Amino acid sequence: MATSEQIIAAPIPLCEPNLRGNEKKYTADAIDSNWLSGGSYLRLFEQKLTEYTGAQHVIGTSSGTTALQIALILAGVEKGDLVLVPGMTFVATANAVKYLGADPIIIDIDPDTWLMDNALLQDFLVNQTYQTDQGCIHKASKRRIKALVPVHLLGNVCDMSMLLPIAQQFAITVVEDAACSLGSFQNGRHSGTSGLVGTMSFNSNKIITTAGGGAILTNDEILAKRARHLITQAKSHQTEYYHDGIGFNYRLVNPLAAMGAAQMEQLPGFVKTKKEIAAYYLSNLSDLDVAFQVITQGTDPNYWHFALLTARSREIIAALASQNIETRPLWTPLNLLPAFRDDLFVTNHDVSARVSQQGLMLPCSTSISSDQLERVCSNLRKLL
Ligand SMILES: Cc1ncc(COP(=O)(O)O)c(C=O)c1O
Repeated sequence: MATSEQIIAAPIPLCEPNLRGNEKKYTADAIDSNWLSGGSYLRLFEQKLTEYTGAQHVIGTSSGTTALQIALILAGVEKGDLVLVPGMTFVATANAVKYLGADPIIIDIDPDTWLMDNALLQDFLVNQTYQTDQGCIHKASKRRIKALVPVHLLGNVCDMSMLLPIAQQFAITVVEDAACSLGSFQNGRHSGTSGLVGTMSFNSNKIITTAGGGAILTNDEILAKRARHLITQAKSHQTEYYHDGIGFNYRLVNPLAAMGAAQMEQLPGFVKTKKEIAAYYLSNLSDLDVAFQVITQGTDPNYWHFALLTARSREIIAALASQNIETRPLWTPLNLLPAFRDDLFVTNHDVSARVSQQGLMLPCSTSISSDQLERVCSNLRKLL
């Protein structure tokens, strides 16, 4: 018989997928149909995303990273260009820039929202760029700044009412990285639908998953057509193998889209549960010496992943691991990663480094029980 200690030590995972709906049924159906690369489930999944987000066009892709790469191409990013990205994000945001032979300009984050610091961005653009008929040029390097990638980190949405006018003033195209923010709205508008293009991820830890997959969102029909063309090897003839450019094999496949269609049926329930998890943590931990991410004004976030800041994050991660509770730090700032170390980092106080050092992501699977939440909080309280 298990001792009480062994029962207490049952693992609490960080953020598990939740496939308790029609995922197996639809995926098996897609396999049985023999339509694997494309098919009706892909169309259904895209349609469900279109209806939910209000984007006029949604194109399934093989990952959030490939969606970003294509989105940057649609935005006109070319070799040698510069792209503005936040210091705190998953590495894929900046990798997609490098894939195109462009380089990121890394803008530090706001200490409260942990999103790109809008004031710092504006200050940089005012003082360190000038306009030509080529667009916005970075004074020091004479390189064109073609795009801005706001990242809606952890489901909190960047203040688009500030960012869009800034981008417009400086002739910079906005590509929203909404990898984490399916289910997050701002002033009634779904995240990822305000810029020229938005992207999403359905990696297994996201609010819905297709095991691996992503999506491109846009309201521009011509861009949507171009996106489909590019992710299908730039094939321009129905039957002949004629390709009018260099394309990619970045499509989302039908059985995985079937999983996504089933997940979309559960999305409203998942968002509700994530909000309940966040409310629980906020009410049970707010008297401790920790800081929480401040949600931007007008945002109704999906609370995809709950995190807090504590000066002892690494020590706490190890202590909770010994209690079988899985937690994680936040991402290493881009400017501290070898691939981006030589890129321009714009900062006043290096907030990204502090948030990264102090970040602690707490368990938040949609299947987490109230007993498990209670166990996370009581262990945290003991440690803090
Ligand atoms: C902010 C952000 N951007 C991009 C990605 C890349 O998505 P994917 O893993 O589907 O390629 C992720 C994935 O975790 C992410 O968190």
